[in-house]
Amino acid sequence: MTSPAWARPVHRALSLAFMVLVLANLVGLAFGWQAQWLWIVTLIPLFGLMGTGAWLFAAPYLVRRRA
Ligand code: HEM
Repeated sequence: MTSPAWARPVHRALSLAFMVLVLANLVGLAFGWQAQWLWIVTLIPLFGLMGTGAWLFAAPYLVRRRA
């Protein structure tokens, strides 16, 4: 599938999850409750964002080259 159509909603959903987790981390910091696992869990959607984001960036160039 060369169309980035699927990547956009996935990227959008991951960005929401990432935002909520970053906020949870900051609230934890503010109240002196720090958990290392929460930072690690936060990295999971970030890696998904990197993958889908790179695909969103590259797909238009790849599709144009094939056309
Ligand atoms: C980590 C590396 C990331 C890369 C490489 C990346 C890359 C991209 C690219 C290429 C687009 C498409 C822009 C266009 O329409 O031309 C995009 C859209 C978007 N990105 Fe990212 N992004 C990353 C991380 C994030 C993060 C951390 C957030 C927010 C927490 C985010 C939120 C969004 C949103 C909301 C859109 C618009 C999606 C839509 O149009 O439905 N991205 N990103």
